[in-house]
Amino acid sequence: MTSVVDRQAHGEAAFGPPTPGGGALRSVTLRYTAHMFADVHARVLRNERLTAGYNVLALEAPALAAGVEPGQFVMIRTAPGTDPLLRRPFSVFEVLREGTEVIGFSILNKRAGVGTSRLAEASVNERFWCLGPLGHPFSLAAARSEAWMVAGGVGLAPFATLAERLREQGTVPRLFYGARTADELFRVELFESLGVLVEIATEDGSRGTPGRVTAPLAAAIDGLAEGDAVTLYACGPSAMMQAVATMARSRGRDVEVSLEQVMGCGTGGCYSCVVGVRRDGRTRYVRSCLDGPVFSSAELDWSTVGAH
Ligand SMILES: Cc1cc2nc3c(=O)[nH]c(=O)nc-3n(C[C@H](O)[C@H](O)[C@H](O)COP(=O)(O)OP(=O)(O)OC[C@H]3O[C@@H](n4cnc5c(N)ncnc54)[C@H](O)[C@@H]3O)c2cc1C
Ligand code: FES
Repeated sequence: MTSVVDRQAHGEAAFGPPTPGGGALRSVTLRYTAHMFADVHARVLRNERLTAGYNVLALEAPALAAGVEPGQFVMIRTAPGTDPLLRRPFSVFEVLREGTEVIGFSILNKRAGVGTSRLAEASVNERFWCLGPLGHPFSLAAARSEAWMVAGGVGLAPFATLAERLREQGTVPRLFYGARTADELFRVELFESLGVLVEIATEDGSRGTPGRVTAPLAAAIDGLAEGDAVTLYACGPSAMMQAVATMARSRGRDVEVSLEQVMGCGTGGCYSCVVGVRRDGRTRYVRSCLDGPVFSSAELDWSTVGAH
């Protein structure tokens, strides 16, 4: 959280809390910390349709992308006017590079309503204001230890950057990836190319283990010896994350879960994203855009988590 990186920024960018309309800075030297974010008028580099409901949108935003920690998100203004008025939150899926140079980031977008539909239809060279990187990232498993990621559907998004970071430190992560059908499994080859051990489950049995992803995960946990350490991460629908957390808890394990609460601002101002956490023997409400989106399942009051 305290690492500081000097970066050369290119393109339109404004730094710190957003200002109306943003700023237009060219080639400025930035000093990033995990607590700093940029508001970038990012150009669409590619829009790859995966299925009718899913696409990967690549955005040019070197200054923003260079500061991303695994599990962080961006707030994207999906239309220039007022419909919708509020930005929408998205996990950073990939940090994009040309050679060694960071050029931007991508999101894995699932059509849910007006904002995500706009991003599904985005054209190359169109621009979107993107605020980020935001939020509390995943903690990194110790080098060369066991690190298992559990993804449901579009909950795959925060794990590509995490997998990349874990591989850099010599860890071989496992990905337990669940979806309703094989058609809703995306970019498995990306994870395999990173050296991740991928285990798939589909509810209709069209690929991998038939049923929910909790079954192969439970079997794998049961295969561990009592003292074996493993860091567990989960992201997906809340019911799936709660099921993973409950199953892991019953086996004495905690999970880092990345919540997808409804967010109005992403920066702590509106309190639309609060969840209950148990700390020091009592439940308190915290903003998931600042304290999260990543939480320890052991401290979460699941009755306060939105049903997405
Ligand atoms: C930290 C974070 C990271 C996220 N990462 C991704 C991602 O990588 N890819 C992705 O596709 N989506 C992601 N989401 C969910 C995404 O932000 C919502 O789907 C989006 O805001 C819906 O906007 P909309 O205008 O399309 O839908 P609206 O028209 O506002 O609403 C349509 C439907 O979507 C539901 N919805 C609203 N907010 C959410 C939400 N937070 N989660 C789920 N459903 C919601 C509404 O209840 C409604 O039923 C993330 C959310 C958070 C908080
Ligand atoms: S989204 Fe506004 S306070 Fe968290």
